Amino acid sequence: MNPFLTLFIFFAPILFLLMRRKSTSERLPPGSLGLPIIGQSLVFLRELKANTAEKWLEERVTKYGPVSKLSLFGKPTVFIHGKAANKFVFSSDSRAIANQQPDSFRMIIGERNVLELSGEDHKRVRDALMSFLKPECLKQYVEKMDREVRRHLELHWEGQQMVTVLPLMKTLAFDMICSLLCGIEHGSRRDDLSTCVKLLVDGMWSVPLNFPFTRYYRGLRASARLQNMLKDLVREKRVELEQEGVSSHQDLISCLVSIRGQDNGESLSEDEIVHNVVAVMFAGQETTATLITFIIRVLANEPAIYAGVVQEQEEIAKGKVPGELLTWEDIAKMKYTWKVALETLRMVPPVFGGFRKTLKDIEYGGFIIPKGWQIFWATRMTHMDGGIFEEPSKFDPTRFENQASVPSYCFIPFGGGPRICPGYEFAKIETLVAIHNLVTRFTWKLCCNDDGFSWIPTPVPPKGLPIEIMPKKTLRI
Ligand code: HEM
Repeated sequence: MNPFLTLFIFFAPILFLLMRRKSTSERLPPGSLGLPIIGQSLVFLRELKANTAEKWLEERVTKYGPVSKLSLFGKPTVFIHGKAANKFVFSSDSRAIANQQPDSFRMIIGERNVLELSGEDHKRVRDALMSFLKPECLKQYVEKMDREVRRHLELHWEGQQMVTVLPLMKTLAFDMICSLLCGIEHGSRRDDLSTCVKLLVDGMWSVPLNFPFTRYYRGLRASARLQNMLKDLVREKRVELEQEGVSSHQDLISCLVSIRGQDNGESLSEDEIVHNVVAVMFAGQETTATLITFIIRVLANEPAIYAGVVQEQEEIAKGKVPGELLTWEDIAKMKYTWKVALETLRMVPPVFGGFRKTLKDIEYGGFIIPKGWQIFWATRMTHMDGGIFEEPSKFDPTRFENQASVPSYCFIPFGGGPRICPGYEFAKIETLVAIHNLVTRFTWKLCCNDDGFSWIPTPVPPKGLPIEIMPKKTLRI
């Protein structure tokens, strides 16, 4: 064979790869990847803590434009934002973009949790969660949620002059999850779970150094303990279902154990059930607690909004005999209160943003995002875009008068597309039941200067929002 031809055949693929690599690197978004491994992670965490992360991102947009590269949590990342970016993240083919959590999350929550899964596995596990979390199923649990809120208020609010809202709302949200999702009533078992979950969440938001006495190490140990407790619970639920004939819809765990696959075996493995209960404990606690806390702050700061909510809730309370619990029909009447909640979610979304990872080279906005890179999306920047929401800094629940008029991919506190939060309805009922009980039993005022909040890991009001409370004499239910 001609030696030139031999050389050409030998070198052609190498040349092709080099040229492709060069053309890919020329089409990478602007920006710097910073120092190896550290990149911009420490700056980003510092900005989050100071509640200036959004300003920091805006400065990036001014400097580099709407698409820029950086390095976060050890991975090359592309930051994108706005309506088109949200559509791209939430509706892209799952063969091109997959979910991406930091490694520490996977290690602590468990690798079979829904946030980690993709394709058919994601759909199967998500469908299983939804079979309990869908409104048709949850509507029978409104009374149970109401009972849980009343107990919480009797225990932690009544007889007090001052309470700190955020930690109490975390306790309430955890109690709701234990009662409705795990079927665990009050007692030492719930207390043990609560201790484990606190350590676990603490470990997830720490530097992943697995040495004794680090927060990450303690988080991993707490996760192992929690998973063992949940495994015992799963076995107990199986026995209850088989021998006592209890309803498969009495709680989420019973529901997951009962779902059958094609061969009539359990559709979810034991690990999948346990890892997803841990995921729900993590995903459903701080988010809902943060939302209720910020609504309480809004109601203290905005007298007209407060008056509207009180009027709606007292109307509902007046239609009931003393002690009567709330029903699904009552929840449906809380339209104004839910608009207040939506506007709170617009201005203070509990989830700052999220990550995805590319499964192949992807073109976006004229740039290439190479295979294996992270995509980082941020919630509030779209919510505060004056081109989408007029006067974005004004608290105005009437924006949600007609929710269909909000353009798609512009209001994303619960994400969007096939991974949209499955806990939406659960969070909605819990929030409305809590606000109903609060405004019909108490009035309150803020106890400390309300000068903003920090954002680690979800928004935190100053000092956890201490408030002075007064019981309402006129209407007690
Ligand atoms: C106000 C309360 C809540 C907010 C703002 C919220 C927000 C979110 C967001 C932004 C996502 C990510 C979507 C994405 O990556 O595209 C998510 C996912 C998720 N949330 Fe929520 N959430 C809330 C309450 C809950 C509750 C109460 C539960 C459980 C009962 C829950 C369970 C989950 C789960 C399991 C996922 C992962 C879904 C998947 O990957 O398919 N969330 N949530």
